[in-house]
Amino acid sequence: MQAETGNAKDSGALFEQFTVLDQPNLYSRERCDDIQRLVEEITQLKREKDAVILAHNYQRPEIFEVADFVGDSLELAKRGAQVEQGTIVFCGVHFMAETAKILSPEKRVLIPDSNAGCSLAESVNAESLVDMRDELRQQYPDLVVVSYVNTTAEVKAVTDVCCTSSNAVKVVESVDSNNILFVPDENLAAYVARHTSKNIIAWEGNCYVHHQINPEQIEEVRRARPDIRVLAHPECRKDVLDIADAVLSTSGMMKFAREDDAKEFLVVTECGMSDRLLLEIPDKRFFKSCQLCKYMKMITLEGTRDALVEGRDEIKLTAELCDAARSSVERMFELG
Ligand code: 13P
Ligand code: SF4
Repeated sequence: MQAETGNAKDSGALFEQFTVLDQPNLYSRERCDDIQRLVEEITQLKREKDAVILAHNYQRPEIFEVADFVGDSLELAKRGAQVEQGTIVFCGVHFMAETAKILSPEKRVLIPDSNAGCSLAESVNAESLVDMRDELRQQYPDLVVVSYVNTTAEVKAVTDVCCTSSNAVKVVESVDSNNILFVPDENLAAYVARHTSKNIIAWEGNCYVHHQINPEQIEEVRRARPDIRVLAHPECRKDVLDIADAVLSTSGMMKFAREDDAKEFLVVTECGMSDRLLLEIPDKRFFKSCQLCKYMKMITLEGTRDALVEGRDEIKLTAELCDAARSSVERMFELG
């Protein structure tokens, strides 16, 4: 995708780019014909294999053509727990597919590329988390571990309650403790800390996509377009969130842009989100930060077709691990 050439320092050029859908070299006549054929093939395969496709908002636009449901992490987790089909193909990153497996262990969950990881999920492992938790509990016996869903199943298994970007403050406010170890996103932790009086102890992790966005890039766009509304994801740094008009999950951005009077939005998150917004709200303009998540973009239509044909890459978790991890996700549903 074009954003791979984006240079974070060259903010003027970054924000001038509109959306990937405007790039004729990426969606040539030939490529569109290929996409059409693949969409038909995948639609047929879904019926034959009793499969449903769930996709995250950051996916490539053509993935939305085959998805049965597109959403943010919370919506996808909820939907994953409810599907009737025997197979879930998850067009997103690995922790999202794992969450679907945790909630529906009897189903076959496939991810088109098992290398589609997440820098946040990689920044914490269960062993180090347990060490830190046990050490902190000597000082704070009531300490509760709140983990962002961007974590592995093993980390969820030693977590008290999960949260997502859309419910993090609510979850923290609802838990029965004043001392929270918040894992693994330091930026989301700092955002939550600004919205609660509780003691938030942050794990030192961040998303490589959001952490590199800086306020100068946003100010530059604002100077050129004073009426633009700036929507930022809470994985961004504090100096970025401080100058945003709204801090929202990916689906929160969709709702905000639909309902707000503004006609132009600067979408400060992974760049695929602006494509999704433009497809859903074509009468408004979306400028993007041009930060691409290389993991999300590992998922392709070809990979999705192959996943259905070959039954790969299947998420395999033991029943014990699913059971141990499930309670922290279900607790989030109850609290959030
Ligand atoms: P959302 O839950 O807001 O979709 O965020 C998921 C994510 O990974 C953002 O980088
Ligand atoms: Fe993970 Fe960041 Fe990619 Fe989201 S954008 S999946 S947090 S690496």
